[in-house]
Amino acid sequence: MADLSQFQHPRFARMYERMSAESERRGTAKYRDRMLAGLTGRVIEIGAGNGMNFSHYPGKVTEVVAVEPESYLRSLAERAAENAPVRVTVVAGHATALPVEDDAFDAAVASLVLCSISDTHAALSEIRRVLKPTGQLRFFEHVRSNKPWFALLQDAITPLQSRLGGGCHPNRDTAAAIRAAGFEIDELDRFYYAPLRFYPAHAHIVGRARPVPAPQ
Ligand SMILES: C[S@@+](CC[C@H](N)C(=O)[O-])C[C@H]1O[C@@H](n2cnc3c(N)ncnc32)[C@H](O)[C@@H]1O
Repeated sequence: MADLSQFQHPRFARMYERMSAESERRGTAKYRDRMLAGLTGRVIEIGAGNGMNFSHYPGKVTEVVAVEPESYLRSLAERAAENAPVRVTVVAGHATALPVEDDAFDAAVASLVLCSISDTHAALSEIRRVLKPTGQLRFFEHVRSNKPWFALLQDAITPLQSRLGGGCHPNRDTAAAIRAAGFEIDELDRFYYAPLRFYPAHAHIVGRARPVPAPQ
């Protein structure tokens, strides 16, 4: 099994357990529904955290393989999986070496996670590896602001937020990263909201993308 010691953030994990409940009530639940609407077949979820997406999967999903490296969050995800409307298998692992075979999934799901993965390009390439050629990536992420002054503020708080927030980078242009990794974005909605009462409203994206075939 992969060495997951670098992904352990026990204090952040307990904080996320509380924050994710508040965030859900402040609008995140609605965006999870949007991200996952219409999915069918086998799905891999990257960095599933405490399993907040599980109750939002549509009934036509036949299996979710939920990969999570952090031990405390993974234990919460295992509990959430027991009450999920679809079959969810929670596995230990991380995004840049997914413990699954090639071309195996109809969809990959990444929510509030591409901000935290240290090598986003490697993770997205790994997602391409495990997706069927007809597969799709569904994403819901907080991202770099289009307002230059706010983006500068995001740059300034990134070191602190990353230290306290399990590696979270609030200043990433994640749509650009998805494209750079060889995906075409078919749907992209961008909006501002405040998932936590102590943090100002900031930019989020929700959408879907598909892998562009590599040139022969
Ligand atoms: C803010 S939480 C989001 C959890 C969940 N996706 C959600 O929507 O609520 C970020 C998650 O990314 C996970 N994570 C961080 N680095 C990762 C990596 N390299 N591979 C997979 N998951 C990672 C963390 O352990 C944590 O569970």
